[in-house]
Amino acid sequence: MNRRPLLAGNWKMHTTVMEACQLAAEIGKCSAGLADRDVLLAPPYTVLSEVAHVLQGSEVLIASQNVCWEEKGAFTGEISPTMVTSAGGSAAIIGHSERRQIFHEDEEIINKRVHGALTFGLMAIFCIGETLEEREADKTFELLESQIRAGLAGVTAEAMKKVVVAYEPVWAIGTGKTATKEQAQEVHAFIRKLLAEMFEKDIAESVRILYGGSVKPDNVDELMAQPDIDGALVGGAALDAESFCRIINFT
Ligand code: PGA
Repeated sequence: MNRRPLLAGNWKMHTTVMEACQLAAEIGKCSAGLADRDVLLAPPYTVLSEVAHVLQGSEVLIASQNVCWEEKGAFTGEISPTMVTSAGGSAAIIGHSERRQIFHEDEEIINKRVHGALTFGLMAIFCIGETLEEREADKTFELLESQIRAGLAGVTAEAMKKVVVAYEPVWAIGTGKTATKEQAQEVHAFIRKLLAEMFEKDIAESVRILYGGSVKPDNVDELMAQPDIDGALVGGAALDAESFCRIINFT
């Protein structure tokens, strides 16, 4: 199965309006002509439409860093799927470990967000990952399985066409400690096998599984060479145009 690589930059809580426009413009330039892969940026909500505007005419996709399940209403601090679409976005990151850990988003809320994104036509970039404690206690696979089963509960095989799974070991995020290519491949293969059990083999074969956690210019090529790694979700290195441009141009 030929899965189209997806290189995604998560800007987290970084960039003023000016910084965002500048960074987006530079990434727009270096992504031009990359016909065999998708490039996606997830800027803060405040600059979603500016970034979309700067990238108009390019192939770069825009995502929000989270999304609510309702279209509108009394949900202070939230962003709706239709707001994302109207700002020029077509995807949403959901269940990032910072949402789970710092803001205590639980499996139920994450599952609602996944459904919200899919109902309104957004691509859902669904994140999972174990902490160092869980890995050391040999709980990695058990934990990932329960995150996947809960987060994707009620999602149909058809809707899975708009789901991307991002495996992000918490101990590798922002720490400079990347999972080895073998560790990442092992988990990705496990995820794909589980998806085949939950849905169908064809679906599991076509779902893109991204790796995230200290992806850098000097490790992206070996990670992307693994058979079940279909892309990267990049934090820190996505804030530097030169680094991110090198990452999206992986060989
Ligand atoms: P990092 O973040 O690349 O800075 O480790 C990845 C992420 O949190 O998506």
